[in-house]
Amino acid sequence: MKDKKTANGTGPGGSGKSDNVRRGGRSEKTVLILGANSDVAKEAMLLWVEKGYQVIAASRTLTGVDDFIVARGIPAGQVITRHFDATAFADHAAFYAALPAKPHIVLYAAGFQVTNEQALLDWAGTYRMVNTHYAGAVSILNLVAMDGGNPHLERIIGLSSLSGVRGRKSNFVYGSTKAAFTTYLAGLRQYLGSRKVVVNAVVAGYIRTKMTAHLDLPESLLLEPAFIARAIVGARNRFVLVPGIKWKLIYQVLRLIPESLVSRLP
Ligand SMILES: NC(=O)c1ccc[n+]([C@@H]2O[C@H](COP(=O)([O-])OP(=O)(O)OC[C@H]3O[C@@H](n4cnc5c(N)ncnc54)[C@H](OP(=O)(O)O)[C@@H]3O)[C@@H](O)[C@H]2O)c1
Repeated sequence: MKDKKTANGTGPGGSGKSDNVRRGGRSEKTVLILGANSDVAKEAMLLWVEKGYQVIAASRTLTGVDDFIVARGIPAGQVITRHFDATAFADHAAFYAALPAKPHIVLYAAGFQVTNEQALLDWAGTYRMVNTHYAGAVSILNLVAMDGGNPHLERIIGLSSLSGVRGRKSNFVYGSTKAAFTTYLAGLRQYLGSRKVVVNAVVAGYIRTKMTAHLDLPESLLLEPAFIARAIVGARNRFVLVPGIKWKLIYQVLRLIPESLVSRLP
């Protein structure tokens, strides 16, 4: 597991403050972002930084996060980066134990997608989707949830997908990994409820990111990463968050229509 200095010079251990120290009179809270090089996650990171949170940006690709920090002028010390691979399950316990501060808020944003046709023919891509969206999430979020030494934990947010709402012929392999993730989050929410830890699932439609850059998606349904980020950072108590009016409608219709109608969808 590699630690790395951020572009703004903060190394392992961040500012040297071990935990929840008030920074410049702003928030005392720490946000852990898992899969922080996601275009959505980086916009959420910016919003949390603007609110004064300390962010630990955990990513496979640290250069992408560092470039974003420089490009958006994020102040020195407000983001600490750590190497994190969602599929390197054996490293997760050491990764979590070595965090410079235990998080108040955790966002799981790692994602990987191959087409349904590829997924049906090539197990490697399917297995990677399962591991990125489900197994990796369960592995690291179980550690977060079961850390009795972190009294600060208040929220866990998972970036899931409308593709997981109903099985459809065009994308049921990707969709089923997201359905499993959403179901895990739903149970985790109940499990952590007595500790007053809120769990949210962001059930997003199409977003204009690296993941969809090569796809021909209807422009009128594409949402911007910054828009999704606002829903993430503004999450309150509701479990399922569906950003965007059109996608809220699609979500409700998709949830309710009978299987005979779902089968006519792509
Ligand atoms: N875009 C959409 O239309 C859409 C819709 C609904 C839900 N989502 C979900 O939103 C989440 C964020 O995706 P995005 O749209 O922001 O796309 P993105 O920019 O491609 O972000 C996905 C990120 O996941 C990271 N990742 C992949 N495998 C990983 C691993 N093993 N360990 C750690 N990180 C890993 C990637 O890291 P690298 O940069 O290192 O490759 C990438 O930065 C995903 O879970 C995705 O399924 C996306």
